[in-house]
Amino acid sequence: MLVAKKSIAGRVFALLVFLQGALIVTGGAVRVTGSGLGCPTWPECTPGSYTPVPGQAEGALHAWIEFGNRLLTFVLLITALAAVIFSIKYSKNVLNKTRIRTLALLQVLGILGQGVLGGITVLTDLHPLPVAGHFLLSIFLISGAISLRYELVGVVREEAVGILKPILPLLIWLTLFVLIAGTIVTGSGPHAGDEQAKRFGFDPRFVSWLHADLVIALLVLTGMLFLITRQSQLKVINKRIGLFLLICLAQGLVGYVQYFTGLPVVLVAIHLLGATLVWVSAWSLIKVADSGFKLKGFHL
Ligand code: HEM
Repeated sequence: MLVAKKSIAGRVFALLVFLQGALIVTGGAVRVTGSGLGCPTWPECTPGSYTPVPGQAEGALHAWIEFGNRLLTFVLLITALAAVIFSIKYSKNVLNKTRIRTLALLQVLGILGQGVLGGITVLTDLHPLPVAGHFLLSIFLISGAISLRYELVGVVREEAVGILKPILPLLIWLTLFVLIAGTIVTGSGPHAGDEQAKRFGFDPRFVSWLHADLVIALLVLTGMLFLITRQSQLKVINKRIGLFLLICLAQGLVGYVQYFTGLPVVLVAIHLLGATLVWVSAWSLIKVADSGFKLKGFHL
């Protein structure tokens, strides 16, 4: 452990994880309230002003919801910059300082990337591709923020052995495919963020079932891993898999209920929060299991 959990630096690293997740939820709020073009230009909110102006054609509520999401990006950026400073300070004498500093720097670059992607989203009138990209970039940034925090405040590790070693990375990939499929469902569904926004054009029913089938495969795999690890000495991993399973089951339930009730806004927002929690618990699991998950050779 390089930093105490409850020190200022420790809290900054935790805040970074929280804000990366919060940005997904506030971004979702923009979409489901139809406020995607509440600020119709970028980087200005409305021509001639960086903030919403009284009497704006898009309506004050939509403008402030969209502007609030932009503001959160700035808070996130400041937190990420603080994380870079603390990372440099506390990694001076450690072997993996390059990894720690790279992870911190990637947070800043990723947030700047989110800003640009947000601009592209607005300028393409909420095309579903940048909207999905926005979400998926957040997922990667959450992974990086969790990894960074664990490097500095530490985590109880338990090395994955036997069949777990190849299967845990598979679990992560499957979770990622579930999330990607989810963004395709969203891009084909009614909650585009604005009535005029383009859609992918896939049959929403077909892509929803595809998404749900991947979830069923994920649940089966996770259930099996839970039973296997219950018989082993891997108590921490078993607890983490159990938690992941519970979150996935709850999320699956919300998914089906929202599908069969015509996608009410509140459930869609809860489903987005659930997707974030699913990923946070998946990534935490892989870190605890220390299974050496690599993405194109980069040990995230
Ligand atoms: C582990 C379980 C699940 C995860 C992690 C998950 C994840 C996601 C994600 C990430 C999105 C896209 C959110 C966005 O881009 O804003 C999404 C959308 C969606 N999911 Fe799931 N999902 C799960 C289970 C299910 C299930 C079982 C169903 C049942 C059919 C379902 C139905 C939907 C629907 C209909 C949407 C589109 C909602 C919209 O219009 O915005 N999901 N899901």
